[in-house]
Amino acid sequence: MATKLKRIGVLTSGGDAPGMNAAVRAVTRKAIDSGLEVVGIYEGYKGLIENNTKLFQMRDVSNIINHGGTILHSARSKEFKTEEGMQKAVETCHKNQIDGIVTIGGDGTFRGATDLTRHGIPCIGVPGTIDNDITSTDYTIGYDTAMNTAIEMVDRLRDTCESHFRCNVVEIMGRHAGYIALNVGIATGSSQIVVNEMPINEERMYEEIMAGKRNGKRNYIIMVAEGVKGYAELITEKIPLNTGIETRFTRLGHVVRGGSPSLRDRVIASRMGIEAVNLLSEGKSNLVVCMRGEDITSMDIEVAATLDRMYKHKLKEDELERYTREQVEEMRAFCAKKHADFEKLYNQALDISL
Ligand code: F6P
Repeated sequence: MATKLKRIGVLTSGGDAPGMNAAVRAVTRKAIDSGLEVVGIYEGYKGLIENNTKLFQMRDVSNIINHGGTILHSARSKEFKTEEGMQKAVETCHKNQIDGIVTIGGDGTFRGATDLTRHGIPCIGVPGTIDNDITSTDYTIGYDTAMNTAIEMVDRLRDTCESHFRCNVVEIMGRHAGYIALNVGIATGSSQIVVNEMPINEERMYEEIMAGKRNGKRNYIIMVAEGVKGYAELITEKIPLNTGIETRFTRLGHVVRGGSPSLRDRVIASRMGIEAVNLLSEGKSNLVVCMRGEDITSMDIEVAATLDRMYKHKLKEDELERYTREQVEEMRAFCAKKHADFEKLYNQALDISL
């Protein structure tokens, strides 16, 4: 362990996710177990600017592993993006003798972690968002719970569709990624899944609904990712016109972000929290903890951000110039594989949709 590290901070930022508490608990307990002190930073970067902090004891993280939300609360901070805000945040770290921070959240959280690291505060990011939309990791904390909450609700919608011979178009959270829609769509036997990652074939959707109708099928769920803006409402109008089936619309919004975390979220959050403390203890910084298959690993936050923009076709001009050709090829192959895996699952979903 690097001798310098004595006290670390932990914060949650961006949209909350079930399992964040398990990560906060693991960070705190692992750190204390390693002889470190832990400062809980409330309301993310906003709290860091405002010195909204508390020196944690073991009991501060007792009885939280089973609770949704985040005991550290979350907030978005515009001030943190300014140099003045950053200086205040750094000042809080110095005042509280914080030698490094574990930042739990999504890509916005990691941008903040990089900025802080550049200003001399080592940070390690832990991916927490229900969307599972961080390219560098196969898994983000909260994803499993959100999907399990969603399937319970969609199953209920199916019951009432079956009684009334109806279709229900369900829009489900996922701002930049269709992972939740795809998996919940499969798990609930949806007739069609609509995501930004794959082309929409509306004609095929109507044909399949009609084929189902001819076979006596009485319930139809169409799962649409939130990122496909306005589409769910649009087809709610069009399905009855094209199929004669009465159709309702349901938006599964923030309700899927709450609730007690699943076993998978509790365990992965715990493993990721431990890894983050280990990395800081080894003197490392500016890394994001990742999951590959069932392994916990890590990656440079800035490489992870480039990878993310590459996957989402949002690369900045000249962004790839600081990488070697081999690195760029490796990143391209990584993104291609990720997309191919998504496409494969989507096509399998189509094969069994009706
Ligand atoms: O990123 C998680 C997420 O729940 C998205 O699915 C959704 O688009 C967004 O956050 C909603 O953000 P807010 O809580 O600010 O409304």
